[in-house]
Amino acid sequence: MSLPPGTHVIHDAIALPAPHDTVRARAVHRAEYPVVQADSVEEAVKHLRTVISDQRIALVTDGTVAALHGRELRHELHRQGVEATMTSIAPGEESKTMRTAERLLDWLADSRIRRRDLLVAFGGGVVIDTAGWVASVYMRGMPYVNLPTTLLAAVDAALGGKVAVDHPQAKNLIGAFHQPTAVVAATPWLSTLPARHVRAGLAEAVKKGVIASPALFDLIERDLPKILALDPATLHRLVHASATVKCALIDRDPYEEDLRRPLNFGHTIGHAVETVTGYGPVLHGEAVAFGMACAARISLARGWMTGTAHTRLLSVLRQAGLPCRREELPAPTGTEAVLAALDKIRLIRDGHLRFVLPVDIGVTAITDDVTDDEIRRALTWSPSPHSTQADTATIPARRGGETTAAA
Ligand SMILES: NC(=O)c1ccc[n+]([C@@H]2O[C@H](COP(=O)([O-])OP(=O)(O)OC[C@H]3O[C@@H](n4cnc5c(N)ncnc54)[C@H](O)[C@@H]3O)[C@@H](O)[C@H]2O)c1
Ligand SMILES: [Zn+2]
Repeated sequence: MSLPPGTHVIHDAIALPAPHDTVRARAVHRAEYPVVQADSVEEAVKHLRTVISDQRIALVTDGTVAALHGRELRHELHRQGVEATMTSIAPGEESKTMRTAERLLDWLADSRIRRRDLLVAFGGGVVIDTAGWVASVYMRGMPYVNLPTTLLAAVDAALGGKVAVDHPQAKNLIGAFHQPTAVVAATPWLSTLPARHVRAGLAEAVKKGVIASPALFDLIERDLPKILALDPATLHRLVHASATVKCALIDRDPYEEDLRRPLNFGHTIGHAVETVTGYGPVLHGEAVAFGMACAARISLARGWMTGTAHTRLLSVLRQAGLPCRREELPAPTGTEAVLAALDKIRLIRDGHLRFVLPVDIGVTAITDDVTDDEIRRALTWSPSPHSTQADTATIPARRGGETTAAA
């Protein structure tokens, strides 16, 4: 048979195994994408253009970001020859729901967006998580790019492909791993961020410094006033360094198969605080900061964390205006309520509550033998002028702690 020229012909001859051999399916997918830090919107769009072919662009943002930065982005896209259809969701965690996702799916279908077109998530973690999840299910998965506009999204949520919406039963209950095609942050977008959100985002950067990068921690310690003043060059360095550390960590375990994750530092107690305060009054970053302070206190009391590292961590959190004591949290948080919330997590995880305890800057120990008494003491701690703490850390092998040192 003669086929028309240009027809793509595939010759195949798959061999058949013996009738009772087990058939094995395999699907290996490893993604690699650029994470870029631009200094202007023009530069950001230039980077975005490098990952766009002849696709149509569906841009999702929220009302606040649309009002502050939407017009400039659309203008710049247009100037560089990219036409986008745009929609926005209501700002805030309340929007991270199936309802919003369904509305976005309707909008994609009504706009006749095809599987190989590109969804662009332009906003904070809420927009990125929701739009990313929509991208993961629309036509069984379409490509998407993250343009993070909060510090938290730029240093954390935009990276790693964890996408989700909340369910009344739990936050992020309906989710997937769906890696973005690119992440393009632009420093000017951060210039309008309210101070409280800057601090909350900074908490996730501090976390990465403590668990895996003395260099990042030094940078934050040294440049803290400039970060809080939103100095563009300093923010550029902070986002670039934090993204480098997060990408290096997820590269080791992109689909979170290992339960011993240093990235969970501050999140065990942090999640419990968010749960008992009803997700909202305490920002995620604030809860994580308090969780890190508690974990550090537990570690110091065990003689695991060096006094110097403990002082450095607490001092950075304090200077950043992040809560280190229960009374400093923006909503009342009962000790027993936090312990009850932790108990629920313990039940889900077969009786184990895993804690990431800092040992030094760049060294963490992961353990599941932290007792309720230790947690209670950490939660109710208040500074005493007479407290003396050892400056050395010894990790007794019998406790079963595992240490991870930053490379
Ligand atoms: N996927 C992940 O790996 C991951 C990691 C961490 C957090 N998260 C998720 O991220 C969410 C929190 O993200 P967030 O802190 O960015 O919250 P957010 O998206 O709600 O943004 C915070 C507020 O800032 C506003 N905003 C956004 N950009 C702005 C700007 N440039 N100027 C002024 N205001 C701006 C938003 O409208 C919102 O009101 C949570 O739902 C959390 O679960 C996901
Ligand atoms: Zn977090």
